[in-house]
Amino acid sequence: MNILITGANGQLGREMRLIGEEHKEHNWIYTDVEELDITDFAAVSRMVEDIKADVIVNCAAYTNVDKAEEDEQTALKLNADAVEVLSRQKAKVVHISTDYVFSGSGCVPYKETDTPAPMTAYGRTKLEGEKRLLQNKPDAVIIRTAWLYSEYGNNFVKTMLRLGKEKQSLGVVYDQVGTPTYALDLARAIYSVITVENWQGGVYHFTNEGVCSWFDFTREIFRIYNTRSVEKINAEVKPILSSEYAYKTPRPHYSVLDKAKIKSTFGISIPYWTEALDRCIRQMI
Ligand SMILES: NC(=O)c1ccc[n+]([C@@H]2O[C@H](COP(=O)([O-])OP(=O)(O)OC[C@H]3O[C@@H](n4cnc5c(N)ncnc54)[C@H](OP(=O)(O)O)[C@@H]3O)[C@@H](O)[C@H]2O)c1
Repeated sequence: MNILITGANGQLGREMRLIGEEHKEHNWIYTDVEELDITDFAAVSRMVEDIKADVIVNCAAYTNVDKAEEDEQTALKLNADAVEVLSRQKAKVVHISTDYVFSGSGCVPYKETDTPAPMTAYGRTKLEGEKRLLQNKPDAVIIRTAWLYSEYGNNFVKTMLRLGKEKQSLGVVYDQVGTPTYALDLARAIYSVITVENWQGGVYHFTNEGVCSWFDFTREIFRIYNTRSVEKINAEVKPILSSEYAYKTPRPHYSVLDKAKIKSTFGISIPYWTEALDRCIRQMI
């Protein structure tokens, strides 16, 4: 199988490279904006043709929530216009979306059938990308995920480890809950999706298992770090409310996704979030 990875230098893209190393029976082509700008229809069509791509896994996105709020047009270009470019190719498409398509005001895990109601520009542009993809390519796979981190790129785990070393105490919100997701586990799920015997298009939800707040997440990051590293973090973690934190863009209070569909369709089991976090931190140390 010829598998084209876009946005291959991002958090998820870098983890897809690791999956490619484990599965050399396939031909993996890794591209980021330098090699393939996915907003460029002619360039994408040429690449898909040249490498005879069977599947495109789109890991590229405009992911800065605050900047998207200030410049929705630019976010739309990558999160929707470029997704439309991919939808017009012959290859099958796996595209990644987000919990931000929901309002975040729920209190039971969001199912794929729940009605989206994005509250931010980022969420709106991601939802628009989903719609355009399914319009042109109804058999595409869309995987919504949340709270993504990895040993690569900038993310919450890395920020907290840095702050934990710099500060004596830090306030972290406890009234927003969701599930941290190790990008390597998502990459493994994507591999199951693209190698299933009969392609199963549709919208799916994937995060690690379990639920926590950002406050709990931070405490666990420090606890694991302290058990794995010789260096110790002694910063005190204090629970605060979202209203006490100067967010530029409001964040969803409830981001938990129901993963029953992806588990039953592809026969995958998903690691619990603390176990996944432990694996990632061990990679970082
Ligand atoms: N991060 C999260 O917490 C989170 C949560 C839920 C869902 N998601 C979704 O998960 C997916 C992966 O996220 P991620 O955190 O891995 O993203 P990321 O680290 O921001 O990676 C995105 C990559 O796409 C590249 N890119 C930018 N413009 C491009 C273009 N025109 N053509 C091709 N590549 C381009 C970026 O390059 P530059 O860095 O040079 O711009 C970057 O390497 C995204 O769809 C995102 O919406 C993420």
